[in-house]
Amino acid sequence: MITFEEAKDILSKYGQEHILKYYDEISDSEKSDLLKQIETIDFSVLEALKNDKDITAERGEFAPLGAVTVKDIEKNSSEYSKSGIEAIKAGKIAAVLLAGGQGTRLGFDKPKGMFNVGITKELYIFQCLINNLMDIVNLTGVWIPLYIMTSEKNNADTVEFFKKKNYFGYNSSYINFFIQDMAPSVDYNGKIYMENKAKISLSPNGNGGWFSSIVRAGLLEDIREKGIEWLNVFAVDNVLQRIADPLFIGAMINSGLQSGGKVVSKAAPEERVGVLCLEDGQPSIVEYYEMTHEMRTLLDENGELAYKYGVILNYLFNVDKLESLLKDKLPIHIVEKKIPYIDENGNHVSPEAPNGYKFEELVLDMIHMQDSCLAYEVIRNKEFAPIKNATGVDSVESARELLKENGVQL
Ligand code: UTP
Repeated sequence: MITFEEAKDILSKYGQEHILKYYDEISDSEKSDLLKQIETIDFSVLEALKNDKDITAERGEFAPLGAVTVKDIEKNSSEYSKSGIEAIKAGKIAAVLLAGGQGTRLGFDKPKGMFNVGITKELYIFQCLINNLMDIVNLTGVWIPLYIMTSEKNNADTVEFFKKKNYFGYNSSYINFFIQDMAPSVDYNGKIYMENKAKISLSPNGNGGWFSSIVRAGLLEDIREKGIEWLNVFAVDNVLQRIADPLFIGAMINSGLQSGGKVVSKAAPEERVGVLCLEDGQPSIVEYYEMTHEMRTLLDENGELAYKYGVILNYLFNVDKLESLLKDKLPIHIVEKKIPYIDENGNHVSPEAPNGYKFEELVLDMIHMQDSCLAYEVIRNKEFAPIKNATGVDSVESARELLKENGVQL
């Protein structure tokens, strides 16, 4: 482990000497924990603050990208379904649940997946997702390996919850948990917050590091041994999504493209959603705030929005390609969040409003590293019910309505 002097040197390089302010007051074991934190944290993420807040600001030339539409899918469903089921039966498909986020907008103090969306009975978010995956297990007669990403903050609760609920009927030998990396949080002046006198405030470093975390957890061997070729990555909060969807898998395999992303048609030009498109000829996702008004409202030859297909965080990635990308760095996004901290007087503060930045890598940036990507359109009301907030848009309320609409008993 590094010494106090070495820690001071590292911190002074990044202007973060205040981290050692209380060093003399803390116990010996706290001292060594703090030095360990300083030794392992990747402070280079702070460089992102210098680059005009967001290094993704420099983007290439965008162009629209078409999709396999709902109509196309209806027409070719038996062909897609045949290829997809074949791949699943051959053990080529696994699912990856990204559940390391803190879900601060929902304001629920447990892992988001432990939230009960049921009304007259218990129905947890994790349970909805497992139920959806069970549909495919029942259809194919094959257990689909499920890798679940957690963070240091929510791993223990998540693992214990699954165990207590008997994995909601899933075969637990096909479920593996792995833990993602953390990054420091800073105030608006770029100074790292302290959680207490002996601990740097860390938060999950975004959902982009999921594959390197799988590798670090030793699970790539498991993936290789099982002969898995494609990973279906999905978010915790969309309770209606189809996971390991044979039609999506079949459409992507038949297309010969390297990756796939489920998309929904934008409801309106101003809808705040990332759009799957081309950037300098490569697939890419352009965020809502990166689009000019002209891009948002541009129409194609059929009078439809040219940048029409919004992503719903449900992607298919090829394992070989992911492995070849391991050496490449993802851009770092700076995200404004509420960060609990101790103030100058050592008092603990839980802010009501955002008070600083977290640093995140995002899975959507992996799309731009692919040679090609199939945009696969799904029907919004059937497959998209994200729970981000307690009320209003993308909320518990709206998801409950959509679950009911789709025949799920609450
Ligand atoms: P969100 O963008 O909704 O982030 O995550 P969040 O941080 O959980 O929520 P808010 O913004 O604080 O309310 C989209 C998906 O990515 C996962 C989340 O768990 C969710 O499935 N995620 C996010 C991670 O796995 N790790 C992260 O560090 C961040």
